[in-house]
This record gives sequence, C-alpha cells and structure tokens, in this order.
Amino acid sequence: MARVGILTGGGDCPGLNAVIRAVVRKGIREYGHSIYGFRNGWAGVIAPDGFELTVDNTAGILPRGGTILGTSRTNPYAQEGDVARIKETLASEHVDALITIGGEDTLGVARRLSKEGVDIVGVPKTIDNDLSGTDFTFGFHTAVQIATDAIDRLHTTAESHHRVMVVEVMGRNAGWIAAYSGMAGGADAILVPERPFDIDEVCARIRRRHDAGRTFSIVVIAEGAEPRDGLKAVTSHEQHTDAFGHVRLGGIAVMLEQEIEKRTGFESRMTILGHVQRGGSPTAYDRVIATRFGVAAVDAVSDRDFGHMVALHATEIVRVPLDRALGQPKLLDPSLYAAAEVFFG
Ligand code: F6P
Repeated sequence: MARVGILTGGGDCPGLNAVIRAVVRKGIREYGHSIYGFRNGWAGVIAPDGFELTVDNTAGILPRGGTILGTSRTNPYAQEGDVARIKETLASEHVDALITIGGEDTLGVARRLSKEGVDIVGVPKTIDNDLSGTDFTFGFHTAVQIATDAIDRLHTTAESHHRVMVVEVMGRNAGWIAAYSGMAGGADAILVPERPFDIDEVCARIRRRHDAGRTFSIVVIAEGAEPRDGLKAVTSHEQHTDAFGHVRLGGIAVMLEQEIEKRTGFESRMTILGHVQRGGSPTAYDRVIATRFGVAAVDAVSDRDFGHMVALHATEIVRVPLDRALGQPKLLDPSLYAAAEVFFG
C-alpha cells in the first residue's frame, strides 16, 4: 500500500483521463493504494494544489477529452527553489511515488527528479508521437483521425471549386501527424519537418496533376515544416517560447497558400487545424492504450520499478528506462514517407 501522486503535464491530449481512471481503479481496488491528483502539472506539486482521487470522482471520465487534473507547461528547473518545493510537497502530502503523464518536457523533469531520488514512473503522452522508446503515444491516433476527417471534408469543397487546399497540422518537429493523416486522406503532397521542401517542386507537382486533368489538389503541411529556400511563415509566433524553450509554431500554411497561388495561378485556400486536433473524445484505440498504460504504470509503482516509462512495443506494454525514452525525439520513419510519396500528384 502506497500513497501515489499523479499529474498531467504539457499540452493536453485525448486519453489523459483514461490513464487517470485506470491508475485510480487498479491502484485502489487491487493494491489498496491511495491516489492523490496534483493540479496543472508540476505547478500543482510546487504550489501545492491537489485533491484525493477516488473511484467515484473518476467515474465516467474514460471518453472525456482534456484532463480532469488540468495541465501546464511549468518547468520546475527553470525557477530557483521549485525543485526543493516539489520535494517538500511530496513529504508533507506523504506521497511515496509519482506517476507523471507527459511528453518530452514533463518526462524530462521526471527523469531529473528520479536521478535526485524521487520515485517516479512515467506515462508517454503526446499527439505528436515523437517520443522515443515507445511505438506510439496515446492521443496521436485521435489527432490523426481528426485531421483525416478534416482532409476528407476539404476534398469535397476543393473539388467543387477547383482549388488547391493547404492543410496545416500539428506535430512540432516531427511529421507523424502530417504523414499519417495525409496518407489516410489521399494528399497530393505532404510536407514534413524532416525534409525541407522546395516550393517550386511542390508547384510543379500540382501543375503536373492539373495538366493530367485533375482540377484540385490537397497539400498537407506539418506546422514545423520548412522551405528550403528560406521563405518564412507569416507569423509573429517566433518570439514566443515556452518554459522549456520551444518556439510556438503555426502559420506556415499562410505563406504556402500565397506562394502556390502566385506561382501556379491556381486559386488556393489554407486551413490551420490547430488545437482542434487535441480536443474532444479519444478514439477507441487511444482509450485502450491509455488504459493499458495506466494499469501498467500502477503495476510498476507497486513493483517499485522506478525511473521507467511504460511503453508500447508492437502490441505489448513494456517498461523502458526514462533515459532511453528521452535521448532523441522519434522522427518520421523514412519508409512511411516513401509509401505516402507514391500517391503524390
Ligand atoms: O506537443 C503537442 C502540441 O500540440 C504541438 O503539436 C504543438 O506545436 C504544441 O503542442 C502547441 O502548444 P500550445 O498548446 O502551448 O499552443
């Protein structure tokens, strides 16, 4: 029996509540643990701010998007004294171990705290799917489904108006969402951060397609994609960095729409899907892996197997050292891109 703290950090993502519910159900019913939820990521451990999680107050949250705990991009290592405050909170709340649900940043903090003696198990979360050590993170499948639905809808209006539609999706510095949704939505070009693109090549491709009798095109671009010729997105976001030093992305589609229209003469429109991709109910697939991750995380805590992250390897849930998960971001598999490329216009 232990007192287990739990928090959700970084960008929210469909499936967080499914993890929380699984930790609470298995933790309380099978191990007799008590589960304490910290609000708003590391901010809630620093404050401190939290509440007791029970089977009752986590009932019905499985299909709900977002996180009942709230989240933030708070970085305790960016502010003098915050790490000491975290340790004080864990002692004063009698928390024996922490389950941290997050991406690269939240788990990066977990890894450092774990090296300083805090007992932690990580759960990988991000719509970007860019965490090493796991084949998939939960939230990704839902984001891909939302983006694919949007591309399907854009197809019909593109076809009616004979337009080029540019669709910008999230993913930070990885092209997973773009490649998956572009492939599922039958995109005529997919532009990803892993491969700087040439606008003239994109335009030539669209022209070839239109010369062959097609009257519309769909271009999917990841928010982190960059043109080879150095043309920049029309956005003022670049001055904004978060507590982990990440630049706020978004807006490259504005430039691409203008350049395509200017260079090809084809009427173009852009759509930036933005946070819609992170909202709402998780897909069945994400509910299942999130639930399995939650169950596995509470098992790891009960086995006192700290400093690890639960992960999906093929169809199995395994434990990997946090160090392995956080070495390098997991970038797009080139063979996946090659398969998508077969269908470009
Ligand atoms: O990491 C998830 C993500 O949605 C990225 O795809 C995106 O660049 C970023 O978070 C947006 O962050 P915020 O919610 O702070 O605008």
